Amino acid sequence: MREHSFILKGNICYSETKNHLSVTEQGYLVCCEGISRGVYPVIPDEYRNLPVKDYGDRLIIPGMTDLHIHAPQYPFRGIGMDLELLEWLNTHTFPEESRYSDLEYAEKAYRIFVEDLKKSGSTRAVIFGTIHLPATEFLMKQLDASGLSTYVGKVNMDQNCTDALRETDALESLESTAAWLRETSGKYSNARPILTPRFAPTCSEPLLEGLGKLQKEYGLPVQSHLSENLSEIQWVQELFPWSACYGNVYEHYGLFGKEAKTVMAHCVHSSDLEVELMKNNGVYVAHCPQSNTNLSSGIAPIRRYLDAGIPVGLGTDIAGGTNMSMFRCMADAVGVSKLYWRLIDQEKKPLTMEEAFYLATRGGGSFFGKVGSFENGYELDALVLDDSGIRTAKELNTKERLERYIYLAEEGGRLAGKYVNGREILLS
Ligand code: GUN
Ligand code: FE
Repeated sequence: MREHSFILKGNICYSETKNHLSVTEQGYLVCCEGISRGVYPVIPDEYRNLPVKDYGDRLIIPGMTDLHIHAPQYPFRGIGMDLELLEWLNTHTFPEESRYSDLEYAEKAYRIFVEDLKKSGSTRAVIFGTIHLPATEFLMKQLDASGLSTYVGKVNMDQNCTDALRETDALESLESTAAWLRETSGKYSNARPILTPRFAPTCSEPLLEGLGKLQKEYGLPVQSHLSENLSEIQWVQELFPWSACYGNVYEHYGLFGKEAKTVMAHCVHSSDLEVELMKNNGVYVAHCPQSNTNLSSGIAPIRRYLDAGIPVGLGTDIAGGTNMSMFRCMADAVGVSKLYWRLIDQEKKPLTMEEAFYLATRGGGSFFGKVGSFENGYELDALVLDDSGIRTAKELNTKERLERYIYLAEEGGRLAGKYVNGREILLS
């Protein structure tokens, strides 16, 4: 009972609903065997014997989920930001990802990635690897050891990319994916496999069909990209002329939410039909505002998705996105939603700070189950935020301090504690 059972004391904030932030100043967050038992102004009698860790005046919030990030792209973040998606993939992304056939390079790069992710505000992440088995297995091993909770995908791609990154054919791609699943399924408690067709253009129809079968066999979740860029959408229509929309390609092969828990990155330019499919199938949208800005992709209509009841979380999409910080991601999500409202559709009100916070915590967290809240029964992921380095003469209340941290984390914020599933992650 006592292992991973404790109480955290501090100024506790979490999303009760999309629009309501619960704030308990100098409250007690109770964790029993890794599960939250709620937040209280006074310790309830039944928990009186648990050890209390007092974080003083600091903020305590749920851990955040990065719903879309490419581990192998971490080395070139911040470089080559002057191209659109398809050119960017060919010029920067595919050549860099080809390097992961060299395990020595992969180990060096993935060590840095995992160390930085561990120190970030993300407690959970849904991650793309590359096509390479040894490198992807190394990534999973490192992530598992970090204590963070992740889904990791060995990427599938058998057409329309550089030779060095193309799997020989559908059969080879499927066999290597099956070998990877045999090797890694159930092996790690924190790093679990997720099927990862890169995106429709780089996957032949036999490959997509085989992945649909593997999904059923292993009961796996799925991640991919969807309707990110206008040229990409047109290309998908040319490659799959029978499809009613881009999402229909994945749907046709059982890779779009109905059979498997599925997350699609971007959905910037989804058609009405595609939105309907996403809604009916419970497909998650990973909203990646910084990437959509960097690659001039556009602005995803997140208000529309929220109104439709489509599940949404936030992603950094390294290296389309430059920055691994989910705080920055929240600020960007609010920022681009204002431009959408001002420039594109005056009916679609901008996201509020409460909504962005919900997306980063509960919205994305729900992809992992009961994650992203401190309500009774949720897996306890928590961050302790020290904002004493962000100087001001003004008195702020707790909610204002949280909002300011979202915008100024990089200026003077410091992560003073991090917990995943009730286990403390050592940050130094
Ligand atoms: N679409 C296919 N591959 C990628 C990728 O690596 N990054 C982004 N942003 N979009 C993609
Ligand atoms: Fe991506």
